[in-house]
Amino acid sequence: MRLDKFLAHNGFGSRKDCKKIIKDNLVLVNNEVEVNPGKIIDVKVDVINVDGFDINYKEQVYYMLNKPAGYICSHDDSLYPSALLLIEDLRTDLIMVGRLDVDTEGLLLITSDGKFSHQVSHGKKDILKQYYVELVKDFDLKYIKELEAGIMLGDDLLKPAKVEMLDEKSMLLSISQGKYHQVKRMMHYCDNEVLFLRREKIGNLSLDENLEVGEYKELSLKDLEAI
Ligand code: URA
Repeated sequence: MRLDKFLAHNGFGSRKDCKKIIKDNLVLVNNEVEVNPGKIIDVKVDVINVDGFDINYKEQVYYMLNKPAGYICSHDDSLYPSALLLIEDLRTDLIMVGRLDVDTEGLLLITSDGKFSHQVSHGKKDILKQYYVELVKDFDLKYIKELEAGIMLGDDLLKPAKVEMLDEKSMLLSISQGKYHQVKRMMHYCDNEVLFLRREKIGNLSLDENLEVGEYKELSLKDLEAI
């Protein structure tokens, strides 16, 4: 990979910014000052140091964020701040895996890996996403069978959901699709309304209970396998 591209990937600004950092003699490759932005480096072998700090290159990064309400899953943050702002990583290639509404909390995956994101959101294998749902009134149990068979929502026949009642007004709801406002619309169908929504699980990966709302962590290989 070219040295200026490597620096841009690692959050040192545009290619032009990176060229300047290199021309300013701030970049060492294997302990030698390197002034050629086009220098080809081997990211697995060469040690790159910028202004005294070694840069650990990761081809892809994977984060779990405990998303707070008030943040949106979009790069356009004109109305609300983007959830990406909560991740202290200067990489410019981060994307959010699927969407949570602005008032929804909980497990949000953030990655640089577009293929992974696609597989989790739209892959052939159905990956269940589990939500903790609080409702405004008692849930009418007659709807459980319908939800678990698959209801019609607009023009869509939904795939079967799983319902685990926690008490009269709260449940764990697992769904494998991610249609627009899906859980809220499913609860409308059941003549009810969502008061609070938090995503708890994606596949077998649970929201880390040590993460306060707004905190995030990097995923381990084991976490990725759990998805
Ligand atoms: N379903 C919803 O209605 N909202 C979310 O944020 C996620 C699923």
